[in-house]
Amino acid sequence: RLGALEVHWELDSTSSELQRRLDEAADFSVVLAETQTAGRGRRGRSWLSPPGLNLYLSCLKRFDRGFAALSGLSLAVGTMVLRAVESLGIEGAGLKWPNDVLAAQGKLAGVLVELSGEYQGPCAAVIGIGLNLRLTDTLRAQAGQPACDLATLAGERLPDRNLVAGRLIGALVEGLRAFERHGFACFAEDYARYDLLAGRALKLSGAQGHFEGIGAGVDARGALRVRLADGELRTVDSAEVTVRRA
Ligand code: BTN
Repeated sequence: RLGALEVHWELDSTSSELQRRLDEAADFSVVLAETQTAGRGRRGRSWLSPPGLNLYLSCLKRFDRGFAALSGLSLAVGTMVLRAVESLGIEGAGLKWPNDVLAAQGKLAGVLVELSGEYQGPCAAVIGIGLNLRLTDTLRAQAGQPACDLATLAGERLPDRNLVAGRLIGALVEGLRAFERHGFACFAEDYARYDLLAGRALKLSGAQGHFEGIGAGVDARGALRVRLADGELRTVDSAEVTVRRA
């Protein structure tokens, strides 16, 4: 049984809606809302979701092999978002490891992947995507971080919002099927095209402490590779990354 597409006028959050129905919702269920009253971002932040401007949707995907096999899922989802955007003839966006879809140094889309279930057994991912189509000045001011929208990238050629939603859902369903079979490896080539950190001087802080190096792509699991000053190639599973200004 394949999941249906539901379009709501208003929800607290499309991801919360799928979480509440995790037990009965079919694989590939997609929930879209015109507006969210309690849109959620990563790290406990909120995601402003006024009606009529942007896209807010979540998709449920179940996996048999547990979240041990899901490393790189949010990077893969980032490439799916950019495939959808590029399929509309809109260029100029890229990915900042591990989660950001950026354009003109602002956030174009947010990806929130929430996993539940077992480490090496059945598990489920609720994948939430917020894609900025048209930001108002108020929204930009309230966002708390630099933001960008498709209207800026596309100029006069901004496609109809339904078309953008259709492409996004199509890319997501197709991409998640590929991810289920092959994991992140089959996204690595695409990711490299979108990688905004490759060759850039980076500052990192995480489990391995604070250090600096040059972005050197990602490995087959989606972990970030960083070339240190002494030549060592370090692989980083999770960290806060900032790009050093030249
Ligand atoms: C981020 O902080 O970058 C992730 C933001 C994710 C926002 C989307 S909008 C649709 C879905 N529902 C939510 O409540 N959050 C995600």
